[in-house]
Amino acid sequence: MKGLILSGGKGTRLQPLTYTLAKQLVPVANKPVLFRVIETIREAGVTEIGIIIAPHTGEEIKRAVSQVDFGANITFILQEEPNGLAHAVRTAYEKGFLLDGERFAMFLGDNVIEGGISSLISDFANHPEWDAQIVLKEVPNASSYGVAVLRPDGSIERLIEKPPVPPTNLALVGIYMFDGRVKDAIYAIEPSKRGEYEITDAIQWLVDHGHRVFPHIHQGWFIDTGKPYDMLEANACVLEELTPSIDPTARITGSDIDKRVTVQAGAVITNSVIRGPAIIGEGAIIENSYVGPFTSIYHRTTVRNCEIQRCIILEDSTLSDLPTRLQDSLIGRKVTLTRNTQRPHALKMNLGDHSVVHME
Ligand code: TTP
Repeated sequence: MKGLILSGGKGTRLQPLTYTLAKQLVPVANKPVLFRVIETIREAGVTEIGIIIAPHTGEEIKRAVSQVDFGANITFILQEEPNGLAHAVRTAYEKGFLLDGERFAMFLGDNVIEGGISSLISDFANHPEWDAQIVLKEVPNASSYGVAVLRPDGSIERLIEKPPVPPTNLALVGIYMFDGRVKDAIYAIEPSKRGEYEITDAIQWLVDHGHRVFPHIHQGWFIDTGKPYDMLEANACVLEELTPSIDPTARITGSDIDKRVTVQAGAVITNSVIRGPAIIGEGAIIENSYVGPFTSIYHRTTVRNCEIQRCIILEDSTLSDLPTRLQDSLIGRKVTLTRNTQRPHALKMNLGDHSVVHME
């Protein structure tokens, strides 16, 4: 079976970060979300993987993925316009990655799932009579999701996008299994009101045309990292699962570091308190600071005389002398965040479009 990862799209909900960085490359617990997706698919035994990329972020994704040996044969597939998930599948057919009649697993490149997808892949493989399988999760607030209605035999009867009064609490999760019949569906559907070829419409088409679509109910957590808050949530969940380790090349002096902290190669931690789960990246410098739970500090970032908690700080940034604890924040690359010690004692900012700052 082949794997198709969707890593194109616009990423508007994660602006301003996504003006300069593909959202699938934002690290969660110091590893890009996309790398976690590739590993999940690879661990399930899939070695032929296609990655859908967009013109503005595709080269960066290619470069980042090509630097790592995932033990898989990876093909990059350019989707010229972000015309929807079903359009991405269509592109994979048109560019020759997917062949007629083939079964494949499709995974959104910005989603993180607990526990892998091996059981899901074998579930689909053990039911050759199924034409498609979708993943569902019971959620308390189903009206914010695509929701599935099942028939008495357990198969899918109907999918409804964000219903104000949800008929079930079964939300669609970004993993799908298809056989070759999906090709007819994606060529048959029309664009939705928002102008995209929706994968839910393609699945509904399959159901309406008598094909067998079955669900897999996922029991663990599952997070779509589309918005900053979701990114922090995914970071917290993955940090909880991480087996902590301290790299022998890290230098730690006069610091109190608890058991659930991972310290990567060459990090230097001095006179600081670090409470896990947390991760300190390669070559990062933490000095006279408190780093609280659910924080990921990426490579070569410096934190000096600060208190931070439940944050993701990307690479090559500097945080120093902050007068207040920084919390629930997502900070990009090469950012400088410091106290203004000169007169006038005012806030001085140089923020890009769509930046958000909450003052105390
Ligand atoms: P979305 O998060 O639904 O879309 P988006 O990336 O455009 O983000 P936003 O709504 O914030 O503008 O996409 C889910 C995943 O699918 C994500 O990894 C991007 C990818 N994708 C494609 O590869 N092609 C597409 O045409 C679309 C819409 C998304």
